[in-house]
Amino acid sequence: MKTYHDIATDGGSDVAGQVADQMARLSSRLARVGHVVAIMSGKGGVGKSTLTAALAEAFALMSHSVGIVDADINGPSVALMTGVRHHVPHPVPGGMSPATSASGVKVMSMDLFLQHDSSAVLWEAPSQRHAYTWRPMVEMGVLRELIADTAWGALDVLFIDLPPGSDRLPNLADLVEDRAAAVVVTGPTAVSHGVVARSITAAADVAGLPVVGLVENMSSYVCTACGHEEYYDRSGSGAAELAAAHDIPFLGRIPFDSRLALAADRGEPFLAHAGDAPVGRAIMALAARMKDYLQL
Ligand SMILES: Nc1ncnc2c1ncn2[C@@H]1O[C@H](COP(=O)(O)OP(=O)(O)OP(=O)(O)O)[C@@H](O)[C@H]1O
Ligand SMILES: [Mg+2]
Repeated sequence: MKTYHDIATDGGSDVAGQVADQMARLSSRLARVGHVVAIMSGKGGVGKSTLTAALAEAFALMSHSVGIVDADINGPSVALMTGVRHHVPHPVPGGMSPATSASGVKVMSMDLFLQHDSSAVLWEAPSQRHAYTWRPMVEMGVLRELIADTAWGALDVLFIDLPPGSDRLPNLADLVEDRAAAVVVTGPTAVSHGVVARSITAAADVAGLPVVGLVENMSSYVCTACGHEEYYDRSGSGAAELAAAHDIPFLGRIPFDSRLALAADRGEPFLAHAGDAPVGRAIMALAARMKDYLQL
């Protein structure tokens, strides 16, 4: 497949020039962002988006200016989880205004541009078979636009909620140059650990992203009636060993709590209301470890 630079003539649209301009906008936008933290996992459904939203709330509660860009272009969920689903971005000097959640987190997502809840994200192409070929390239272009063309202002941390898998990590690393670090999320099961092991290698060795550490989500279930905590594996050795095998820190375990899922479904802040629940304390402890790493 040809790249922008191989196209002999583009009918005067200067695609290469447009991309170069956008890369310049991206650089100047990122110059006002202290840290970029990608929340990633090779495994789907382990809680990347939920933890992104909760961590952003945690940083906002600690008086940091925070943004989230939803890099899950085809399955965006951050707008819903942060309660900004129907905020439509509008042009402001220097870009598009991000939506702002009740906790003060700035959010930009493809979801904000989709009018209907069940709208599919489809790319223009002669056929959907061709769209499949172009999709990775188009998606990275959309992500570049979501970051570069949003008037984020000055941010301490910009979180990137990644889709499952690791195939886009090298592109992401290129996009944010040497600005990003990754937090890897796993579930408590061996099935999850096996898939996540490969994505840690992809992040660290292939994409060259510094890895803040590994967090295990939904490790236990806390009974909201009696407070008893039931673990999938009480020792937690699986995730700790996985982190040790890759020489990255193990950042801790987050319990399952239906109130967190409910708050995410309703787009309501969770920590501000239930921060003293075990899941709230675990998320705040995770945020504190990340703050140490980022030296914030
Ligand atoms: N600690 C938790 N306690 C309760 N529910 C949780 C927890 N973590 C995640 N969930 C729930 O699990 C479901 C999957 O979480 P989420 O969408 O964040 O996963 P994901 O890794 O982003 O998925 P995808 O790979 O599709 O992007 C959601 O309904 C979410 O509310
Ligand atoms: Mg997600």
